[in-house]
Amino acid sequence: MFPEWFEGPLGVSIVGRAIEDGILEVELIDLRPHGLGRHKQLDDAPFGGGPGMVMRIEPLAEVLEPLAETHRVLFTPSGDPMTQSTLDRWSSLPEITFVCGRYEGIDQRVIDHFIDEETSLGDYVLAGGEVAAAAAIEGIARLLPGVVGNPDSTEFESFRDGLLEEPVYTRPAEFRGWKVPEILLSGDHARIEAWRAEQRRRRTEERRPDLLDGLQSET
Ligand code: ADE
Repeated sequence: MFPEWFEGPLGVSIVGRAIEDGILEVELIDLRPHGLGRHKQLDDAPFGGGPGMVMRIEPLAEVLEPLAETHRVLFTPSGDPMTQSTLDRWSSLPEITFVCGRYEGIDQRVIDHFIDEETSLGDYVLAGGEVAAAAAIEGIARLLPGVVGNPDSTEFESFRDGLLEEPVYTRPAEFRGWKVPEILLSGDHARIEAWRAEQRRRRTEERRPDLLDGLQSET
């Protein structure tokens, strides 16, 4: 409903460059022209009463039915949480359709017949799916071959091995008396790698023990 919303997110940084370089293509579809009647209406009052408006099925059917060959994702707080593995999976698809819901909801028949997957950005309520779609597009773009300069840099980061990242430092080695951990200046690569692995493990234990549970149940 707000294609202009994406001008910023699609225009700058990694996503902007991926589009410019022809690695990523994004087509924005404005729902409004598919609305009903003279006012191009997209929503209506809920059957059974209650507050808020519900997006009608006809405009979305018109847009989503011809896109049945694509993977059609609806962003909604009721969906499965979006994680790095969601983005890994999506990044290998040739084409994906993101549906940004607005208003208080979407007629359930749209979801039953024209949506392949429901996804949530997190356990909070936004005004619509645009922020989630922009997050997904950026997360996918940086996984595409040729987008990030260093091909290693997306492989060893948080969530790839199921752990959070270790802390990193650069020059100066001391600032206001705050020192970089001695080991990182030692030149002993085996010990440095062991220290980094230990930091990842400890950080994850402290901040996100739920991620460790996930790792254990996978093995
Ligand atoms: N739309 C509104 N809230 C949302 C959320 N948390 N995730 C995805 N889409 C949304």
